[in-house]
Amino acid sequence: MADLDGNRNAKDFATGTPARVFTHSIKGASNLDWGMQNRLSRILDGETGRTVMLAFDHGYFQGPTSGLERLDLGIATLSPYADALMGTRGALRTSMPPATGAGLVLRASGGPSILKELSDEHTAMAMADAVRINASAVAVQVFVGGEHETRSVQNLTTLIDAGYEAGIPVLGVTAVGKELTRDSRYLGLATRIIAELGAQLVKTYYCDEGFDEVVAGCPVPVIMAGGKKLPELEALQMASNAVRAGAAGVDMGRNIFQSKSPVAMIQAVRAVVHDDADPETAYDLYRQLSTEKVAS
Ligand code: R5P
Repeated sequence: MADLDGNRNAKDFATGTPARVFTHSIKGASNLDWGMQNRLSRILDGETGRTVMLAFDHGYFQGPTSGLERLDLGIATLSPYADALMGTRGALRTSMPPATGAGLVLRASGGPSILKELSDEHTAMAMADAVRINASAVAVQVFVGGEHETRSVQNLTTLIDAGYEAGIPVLGVTAVGKELTRDSRYLGLATRIIAELGAQLVKTYYCDEGFDEVVAGCPVPVIMAGGKKLPELEALQMASNAVRAGAAGVDMGRNIFQSKSPVAMIQAVRAVVHDDADPETAYDLYRQLSTEKVAS
């Protein structure tokens, strides 16, 4: 029985004060269930509404990748600087510290390796396992215009239905095949389809012309994909262009973990994404932090 000694009567009901309405600043999220909004908040920073997501899910189709040879050594060191980690369940369970404070975005589609037709994917994990891992979201590749477009879209919608049951958001990733152009017309088409089918987040590539229209036409947050390794200043410039065009941050892999100084690079990316630092200032920070690392 509860100890009632010293129990005080409740009387501070602030009767003249209307109930507070907690509105959420995440695009398209205001009608989602509380749990789903809470999980989105683990990915997108509460103050800036943006994310620095660290992608290291490459192994699910390309095996060992330069910079990802030892996830336990490389990525585990970078994780404290990431708002969210995007990886496979195998990588998380074997090589990442469970005590991480970062949001967890689990790769949930897969199948073909780089030796085969990549659009031939299936869902590659059950939502129950995402719940066990305490995922903040699951990620699925969507091959709009690809050879297996319809099945890939079905992978997306299957996961979205399962995600609604579990309260777990889905990140739809626009996959760009060899034959598809990364222009605003294609990216606008793909991102809009993914959002209208119910994904709560979309990841897509940056394009020089019309990226602001891609973002504006997508009713959920658009997160910029990193892509192939660029010189650090160029990668920071691309990230800056994307967030200034309205992207809700970046999901970068190779441009961080293949950098000469990954810890310095992820901090420079944070400066661009969260502090609106211009690319040159962020690059100075990168160089300064790289030097400090060498000196220590
Ligand atoms: C791409 O869509 C996949 O999710 C990749 O495995 C990964 O996220 C790509 O990251 P990045 O292109 O920045 O190395």
